[in-house]
Amino acid sequence: MAHASAANPQPSRRRRCLVSGGAGFIGAHLVRHLLARGDHVTVVDNLSTGRRINLPEFHEQLRFIEADLSHALGAFGKGETFDELYHLAAAVGVSLIIADPISSIETNVSQTSALLRFAAERGPGGAPAPTLIASSSEVYGKSTAIPFREDDDVVYGPTTKSRWSYAMSKALDEHLALAYGQQRGLPIVVARFFNTVGPGQVGEHGMVLPRFVERALAHAPIEVYGDGSQSRCFCDVRDVAAILPTLMASPAARGRVFNVGSDRVLTIAELAHAVIRITASKSRVAMIRYSDAYAAGFEDLLRRKPDLTRVRETVGFEPSITLEQTIADVASWISGGKGSPIDWRAVSHPETKR
Ligand SMILES: NC(=O)c1ccc[n+]([C@@H]2O[C@H](COP(=O)([O-])OP(=O)(O)OC[C@H]3O[C@@H](n4cnc5c(N)ncnc54)[C@H](O)[C@@H]3O)[C@@H](O)[C@H]2O)c1
Repeated sequence: MAHASAANPQPSRRRRCLVSGGAGFIGAHLVRHLLARGDHVTVVDNLSTGRRINLPEFHEQLRFIEADLSHALGAFGKGETFDELYHLAAAVGVSLIIADPISSIETNVSQTSALLRFAAERGPGGAPAPTLIASSSEVYGKSTAIPFREDDDVVYGPTTKSRWSYAMSKALDEHLALAYGQQRGLPIVVARFFNTVGPGQVGEHGMVLPRFVERALAHAPIEVYGDGSQSRCFCDVRDVAAILPTLMASPAARGRVFNVGSDRVLTIAELAHAVIRITASKSRVAMIRYSDAYAAGFEDLLRRKPDLTRVRETVGFEPSITLEQTIADVASWISGGKGSPIDWRAVSHPETKR
């Protein structure tokens, strides 16, 4: 796999990167890569689902701003510019959207709009700044055209089901980002993440793997929604985060959408059994009806698998960490008390590297 730090030569001066949502699960792993290659990194995060502990308490090339993204962008001085913008801030996941649809939709749409307006004039010398926005496999909606290709049609349920608003808000983000690319010349890349898992992901917002691992470590029943035959592809966050700076740096990626994930398919029941096996748990699998887990009429997607041809051909992406390894690492992170998922001592300051 092409790792950013190896693929990108050191620039003559250090890049200044802005990472929105950088205290979140994927964001923190991305920040690790950017700091390791010597960048100056500004993180803006309101800590709504992110955790300050995900980032180093002190690193001389990291600036942490706890704020809503749109407020922070408005407060930057006029002369403050960035070489690269990574937009990961969002209300993440279907459970959060169902619990609080208004602020979730507003977050996903208005924060992205603010970020793109800012990006259009805050690159070096006031030029548009290269920008990557995080999208989601949810954008495909309930399409059954497996595997999902970036140019496929998307299929959504009615607007009376708030479940689809996450997909629609992310799709609108993509439209807006691509429109900034076309109309304002913004160098834009859209990364559609499929299920991303690994150390640092917490289960409170319905994320499946940490939820399963926590139950397994407690030898408690693992709740699988539906009959467990719905399938997903899980990719380790360390693989996902590593490819983002490479996508950003690739001229061939500009103005395009990329699936980012793994194409190894697993049913949710298989995932539960894998977790039980790897953690040597005495848990059993308990099937829960969707109507008991979510509101009646909840539509889950039976299958979701990315076609990775485009990201493979453009930047040589290949997931390198097996799901078994990820499960073991998540279990040891959770057993260890869910501290920072990253050993920041290993991310040396560039000064000490020379
Ligand atoms: N984890 C996955 O499997 C997955 C899958 C598809 C897409 N994504 C996308 O990847 C991105 C990162 O997701 P994640 O899994 O790291 O989730 P996360 O919840 O850990 O990260 C999102 C971060 O954004 C911050 N945030 C939210 N609203 C904000 C605001 N208004 N201003 C500033 N910060 C704000 C949160 O505090 C959090 O730190 C999101 O855009 C998400 O939609 C994730």
